[in-house]
Amino acid sequence: MDAALLRADLAALYPQYGLRVAHAGTVLIGPTDEELLELAAIVAEPGGVVEPGREGELLGWPPDAGDDAARRFLEWAWRLREAPSPVRWRAPLAVIDGGRALGLAVLAHEHDDPAGTVRTSSWLARAEQGRGLGRRVRLMLLELAFAHLGATRATTGAAEGNAASLRVSQRCGYRETHRAPGPDGVVEVHLAVTPAAWRRRRLPDVDVDGVDAFRDAIAA
Ligand SMILES: CC(C)(COP(=O)(O)OP(=O)(O)OC[C@H]1O[C@@H](n2cnc3c(N)ncnc32)[C@H](O)[C@@H]1OP(=O)(O)O)[C@@H](O)C(=O)NCCC(=O)NCCS
Repeated sequence: MDAALLRADLAALYPQYGLRVAHAGTVLIGPTDEELLELAAIVAEPGGVVEPGREGELLGWPPDAGDDAARRFLEWAWRLREAPSPVRWRAPLAVIDGGRALGLAVLAHEHDDPAGTVRTSSWLARAEQGRGLGRRVRLMLLELAFAHLGATRATTGAAEGNAASLRVSQRCGYRETHRAPGPDGVVEVHLAVTPAAWRRRRLPDVDVDGVDAFRDAIAA
């Protein structure tokens, strides 16, 4: 089946597949299995996402390489697929650049989040890191959250030693709220950003489409 038709059929049942955020050649879009397999291939490469020897950096699946890592990534990503509701929704978005899936960004609202609070997280293939794409992707997620979904606060977390993630957060206007050990004992830095702080760093010309059905599904 044609990829656009498949996504449209998925979007009729799961409106997160209708979301599309675009800026300067980079597109964030709900991943079908085709994109998830491209991402799984990156995850399976030794050092494909995180420098060998470093921890998994709160990615959602254990740090590893090979087929086991690919399967764990896919199963984690498939578990994010569910109908959105006002109390919990997850919008995983593949980062497409130059026609290839290079990473995954997730915008989410979990049961225990206060109304209006969203969570942002993302990873990119290591070969694509360090050229400003991570910051741009984060600002694209915040455009969707603040300018289109009515969020009033966005939070994120990173392991204490994850300098690139913490720097991206700071440059997007996030401020540290607290530090706490995560389930694996690694100290996590928690940060939050308000629409006012984001607006001072807002990217010009971000195109956002397909929001209406998703916003209706998450409206309380
Ligand atoms: C975190 C991540 C998404 C950021 O994306 P990116 O494209 O590498 O980020 P950018 O290039 O936009 O910006 C990185 C910033 O961190 C800085 N940085 C990178 N490594 C650094 C280091 N070791 N020490 C200090 N600063 C560092 C860069 O200089 C840059 O800051 P600048 O814009 O002021 O120059 C990406 O690095 C990644 O996928 N990492 C692995 C997975 C991960 O840790 N995800 C986050 C889970 S919480």
